[in-house]
Amino acid sequence: MTERSALPTSPGTPSRDGHTYVLGSHGEELARLERQHNTWQAAMQAGWQRASFAAGQRLLDLGCGPGLASLELAELVGPAGRVLAIDSARAFLAHLAAEQQRRQLHQLTVLEHNLAEPLAGGLGAGPWDGAWCRWLAMFLPRLEPMLDLLVQALRPGGRLVLNEYVRWDTFSLHPRGPALATFVQRCIALWREHGGDPDVAGRLPALLEARGFRLLESRSVMACTPADQPESRWLQDFLTSYPEQLRAAGRWSTAEQAALEDELRWARDHTSLWVTPALVEQIWELP
Ligand SMILES: C[S@@+](CC[C@H](N)C(=O)[O-])C[C@H]1O[C@@H](n2cnc3c(N)ncnc32)[C@H](O)[C@@H]1O
Repeated sequence: MTERSALPTSPGTPSRDGHTYVLGSHGEELARLERQHNTWQAAMQAGWQRASFAAGQRLLDLGCGPGLASLELAELVGPAGRVLAIDSARAFLAHLAAEQQRRQLHQLTVLEHNLAEPLAGGLGAGPWDGAWCRWLAMFLPRLEPMLDLLVQALRPGGRLVLNEYVRWDTFSLHPRGPALATFVQRCIALWREHGGDPDVAGRLPALLEARGFRLLESRSVMACTPADQPESRWLQDFLTSYPEQLRAAGRWSTAEQAALEDELRWARDHTSLWVTPALVEQIWELP
């Protein structure tokens, strides 16, 4: 288990073990993840409460990114607990390690690991009480290594809280959103080409049940709001950064971008409704 110094990673740059994370780990994406975290922070904390995450526990943050949730988990478990934050993006882990030092959260450590691959020797260091996993499974070309790792790592009664999408293409703008609908389909196609599955939440129950997990709760975390609400702003935020990455990947043309901008202008000038991708919270327990 190692903390590593990091080199900045660009969009589409392979990580140390050669796998490519399709949203990138550059500074702009880090800032977007921070804004995204703020939008969904209350929903996340409510899920942790339902799963009884508490002081003194040992918790995992799978696909932690820059560690916005990991830092909160570390505060929650306190000095008597422990949090292990795992991700493959060195730049994100370096950011988190610096923040961990600055805040003197000694209960928090980071691990650089590709969660689509087995981890030799597992996580070691005794059983874990729970795991948090948000917006990671959708990017994994193989889910089995991470799920097998969890079965080994969690204690009986240990809980897994997942926030993943069941349908990403519910992301839409009404009453006028055809260019956005095309953009959504292009994102989905690109992520699938990279081995991901933006609708992964629907595949998780069978895989978890086969490993002995029991579903305690499942709920929709979704919104349909006018343009000035936080959830809609989160979607608009994604539309300011990701089209450029899609264009760089050869999947988005200047004409399509112009049509999208027209649509966004129209939506600003009229009452419009933004629907988020269908996020699902699932809480599982290992009996
Ligand atoms: C959208 S971000 C979500 C970050 C964090 N979970 C959150 O909720 O803010 C997805 C994260 O998954 C990580 N990731 C993608 N593929 C991975 C893999 N194969 N192994 C480990 N981490 C991976 C990325 O590096 C990125 O930090």
